Amino acid sequence: MNLIAVVAVAVCVLAPSAHCASKTIEWCYHDPACSDRTWPTIAPQFCNGTRQSPINIVSANASENANLTEFIFQGYNSITAMANIKNTGETVKVSFNKGVKISGGDLPESYDSLQFHLHWGNGTASPGSEHTVDGKRFPMELHIVNSKSSYKENTTLAVADSQGLAALGFLIEELPNTVDQPASWKTLASYLSNISLAGENATIAAGISLDDLLSGVNRRNYYRYLGSLTTPVCNEAVIWTVFKDSIKVSKNLIDLFSTSLHINDTASPLMVDVFRGIQRSQPVSTQPKASSSTKTGYSLALMTLGLVMGRY
Ligand SMILES: *[C@@H]1O[C@H](CO)[C@@H](O)[C@H](O)[C@H]1NC(C)=O
Ligand SMILES: *[C@@H]1O[C@H](CO)[C@@H](O)[C@H](O)[C@H]1NC(C)=O
Ligand SMILES: *[C@@H]1O[C@H](CO)[C@@H](O)[C@H](O)[C@H]1NC(C)=O
Ligand SMILES: *[C@@H]1O[C@H](CO)[C@@H](O)[C@H](O)[C@H]1NC(C)=O
Ligand SMILES: *[C@@H]1O[C@H](CO)[C@@H](O)[C@H](O)[C@H]1NC(C)=O
Ligand SMILES: *[C@@H]1O[C@H](CO)[C@@H](O)[C@H](O)[C@H]1NC(C)=O
Ligand SMILES: *[C@@H]1O[C@H](CO)[C@@H](O)[C@H](O)[C@H]1NC(C)=O
Ligand SMILES: *[C@@H]1O[C@H](CO)[C@@H](O)[C@H](O)[C@H]1NC(C)=O
Ligand SMILES: [Zn+2]
Repeated sequence: MNLIAVVAVAVCVLAPSAHCASKTIEWCYHDPACSDRTWPTIAPQFCNGTRQSPINIVSANASENANLTEFIFQGYNSITAMANIKNTGETVKVSFNKGVKISGGDLPESYDSLQFHLHWGNGTASPGSEHTVDGKRFPMELHIVNSKSSYKENTTLAVADSQGLAALGFLIEELPNTVDQPASWKTLASYLSNISLAGENATIAAGISLDDLLSGVNRRNYYRYLGSLTTPVCNEAVIWTVFKDSIKVSKNLIDLFSTSLHINDTASPLMVDVFRGIQRSQPVSTQPKASSSTKTGYSLALMTLGLVMGRY
């Protein structure tokens, strides 16, 4: 049996260690004694709640909400926004320097972007996104964790507020017939061999921006619902945004995540299948179809006008 019983002691995977709450709970992904099936028992206050994440998004059931406007991203084009990359024993976490923020997108205020981390399965052959869309699971999922700016990165305050955190979910799919693409992901993945053991970290050199990692995603189109952290203690404090477009990454880079990292020391298993199972469905909303078809109609009209005026 390759799934050795390991109890991971995690202190707030979602919070930057410096501001982490003292609460420690033993949980893991694979040992039957602490896997996600046990979380409702070992952390019942929230993990057994009624607005838990992740969910399967049924696209046809998403209600239309014209308030779901564009986000404003601050610092996402900076090639020095990413500070450090760490193997936490449950995921790979990239922490950000100060000054990275989001607003708009029908959020109640601006939110500081603190970190991103990833969820994956066992290579492209065995997908491991947390959210699924119409039943489809993607190879990986990237989560950017944001905390209400008014809380000044105090995550204890943020998790006590039903809208204290805003998580941005990006689904990751294979870019067929390529290797090492995009270059930003090649750079990110190049750090993995230096953080193969739990607790190891590396400084990220200036060079790639968050925009580079999120390339190919039209960030105007997304699903929205209210949910929770997807790791214990599963606080129901998260405004979730899951973007409709996926990030496309070469298979060889996706496969590196499930082959480079250990959940503890060199003798421990590789970090694979690091995602929580699907929770009960929640009301999901999205941008009205009418507005995009209006825009298309509008640009078609402009193109026609351009043709008539001989500008194309
Ligand atoms: C990690 O490995 C060390 C050394 O083998 C061991 O003492 C420790 O208990 C392990 N930690 C976990 C969480 O399994
Ligand atoms: C976060 O806020 C709480 C409540 O106000 C406070 O007790 C705690 O010390 C703060 N934590 C940090 C790291 O500032
Ligand atoms: C979880 O909640 C359900 C109903 O809300 C309850 O029946 C069950 O006993 C709870 N489980 C735990 C472990 O608290
Ligand atoms: C989606 O909508 C259909 C038809 O309205 C309904 O039967 C189904 O339960 C809904 N599914 C979810 C997951 O909300
Ligand atoms: C959109 O925002 C307005 C003003 O805040 C609010 O009254 C309305 O309920 C919102 N619509 C939806 C669908 O949430
Ligand atoms: C992951 O995949 C590799 C090869 O593709 C296989 O050898 C290994 O057993 C798999 N691990 C798990 C936990 O499924
Ligand atoms: C990995 O570590 C080696 C040895 O410490 C260092 O030379 C190399 O620059 C590091 N690579 C990255 C991508 O940080
Ligand atoms: C990175 O590792 C070094 C050496 O173990 C440690 O001193 C430092 O605090 C770690 N940094 C982070 C951000 O985990
Ligand atoms: Zn996550």
